[in-house]
Amino acid sequence: MDPKIKKLQERIALAHLGGGEKRIAKQHAKKKLTARERIDYLLDEGSFEEMGILVTHRTTDFGMEKEVYFGDGVVTGYGTIEGRLVYVYAQDFTVFGGALSETHAEKICKVMDLAMKVGAPVIGLNDSGGARIQEGVRSLGGYADIFYRNVQSSGVVPQISAIMGPCAGGAVYSPAMTDFTIMVEETSYMFVTGPNVVKTVTNEEVTAEELGGASTHAVKSGVAHRTAANDIACMEDIKKLLSYLPQSNREKPARLPYELHDEVREELTDVIPDNPNKPYDMHNVINGIIDKDSFYEIHEDYAENIIVGFARLAGRSIGIIANQPMYLAGVLGVNSSVKAARFVRFCDSFNIPMLVLEDVPGFLPGTDQEWNGIIVHGSKLLYAFCEATVPRVTVITRKAYGGAYDVMNSKHIGADFNFAWPTAEIAVMGAKGASEIIFRKEIASAEDPAKKLAEKEAEYAEKFADPYSAARRGFIDEVILPKNTRRKLIKAFSMLENKEVAAPKRKHGNIPL
Ligand code: COA
Repeated sequence: MDPKIKKLQERIALAHLGGGEKRIAKQHAKKKLTARERIDYLLDEGSFEEMGILVTHRTTDFGMEKEVYFGDGVVTGYGTIEGRLVYVYAQDFTVFGGALSETHAEKICKVMDLAMKVGAPVIGLNDSGGARIQEGVRSLGGYADIFYRNVQSSGVVPQISAIMGPCAGGAVYSPAMTDFTIMVEETSYMFVTGPNVVKTVTNEEVTAEELGGASTHAVKSGVAHRTAANDIACMEDIKKLLSYLPQSNREKPARLPYELHDEVREELTDVIPDNPNKPYDMHNVINGIIDKDSFYEIHEDYAENIIVGFARLAGRSIGIIANQPMYLAGVLGVNSSVKAARFVRFCDSFNIPMLVLEDVPGFLPGTDQEWNGIIVHGSKLLYAFCEATVPRVTVITRKAYGGAYDVMNSKHIGADFNFAWPTAEIAVMGAKGASEIIFRKEIASAEDPAKKLAEKEAEYAEKFADPYSAARRGFIDEVILPKNTRRKLIKAFSMLENKEVAAPKRKHGNIPL
């Protein structure tokens, strides 16, 4: 064999070995796949084209010149998922624990730059001990180069982060600035400072899993949008997520071929309980509207009083934002407002039409909420809806009270088509609360105050606890039978297909952060 060809082949073989057999075995023993195995599961077979396989670090401090690996701890390149182009980088924990060096960062930046020019998603598979300690500030600079690109890419190409091992210190900020973070259960964690530093500074005893494991971030902090049982499930989840998204903000999401058949859904007729204070599961409404089994929920276990996720409606990709009466009666709070606002902004950035399903008794009262800034956080959701220019449709299933009525994609803030079910109650507040305020004197001076309150409550409910006052003014475009909701929505989104709204000229708005 030509020695020149042999030289190349040897280098490629060495690159494929990463940090060596022993470290690969260690990785497998932790129930983790290697960077290359992950890419194999993620991309269409044979589609991966690697870039920078022969890159090596440039460090000579601490004897590093003697420890050199081709690829330098990250596998980067492009390939396809279901035939669609994606850019990918996968950190290789077998090489210096996947730690990020100057050259490692350059490789990641290279694929990010290409993704921006071409217009295709970037998927980052993170598994890293953080900054390459031997390189000092050069490594920190590398992180900042990535952060800068995360922000430049935001709203231009979808960015998805999988956390598949350690992710600590500065490393956490790149995933946090991408659109979606999926964490693998039990083998991944994310924190700004680890348990040892926490113990020193705050004297708290906490394990890595408690501090920043997948379930912590999926339930408590909301840092993780989804979790996956293992590496393979994580790759499958990324593929599913991508199926709802366009390649970039220059495109609309792909519409799947679809034949209309089950437009009338009788199961929606009885979904709202007779008692207006009885909860019901809004997932039943969602599933009663969308294409079968098409709901992909984001932040499923976080701020459960609001549901957000992607679905298909007659093959069209839509984003759903829905109050959940099963949890805190569906009120808007700090976390639920921020959760929904971020989702709304994602959909708007990437031309994904939005459906709002509304059953909201108002904002959550209390010192906890006020002191944690519900005023500012609630306004994030209001702001996000107001600035959104994609097709926007609302269905009010039951309560639409107070300021929350305005916030939840009301006609006044730019929604295109607003439906209500006959069970809708659109009012400043519930009949009881309203009567206690406006008829206070009358009730207090009555012989039987309780009876009087009940009378006044009924009077108020008769006048306002329905959709007709709003429909008379055109704030509701149509009151529809629940069973026809799917059919009506398919037509409304089809009608709105070519919606265009010119944005006012400005650098950017100043969303209340
Ligand atoms: N820079 C350089 N090398 C690193 C590294 C880093 N930040 N983090 C890990 N490594 C190396 C280790 O030296 C080890 O090398 P070896 O295979 O030659 O022995 C290898 O990566 C694997 O690390 P190890 O500690 O054996 O793995 P672990 O699974 O037991 O622990 C960590 C993983 C991430 C918890 C641990 O390596 C760690 O604490 N790393 C430092 C984290 C940090 O402080 N980063 C800098 C701030 S962002």
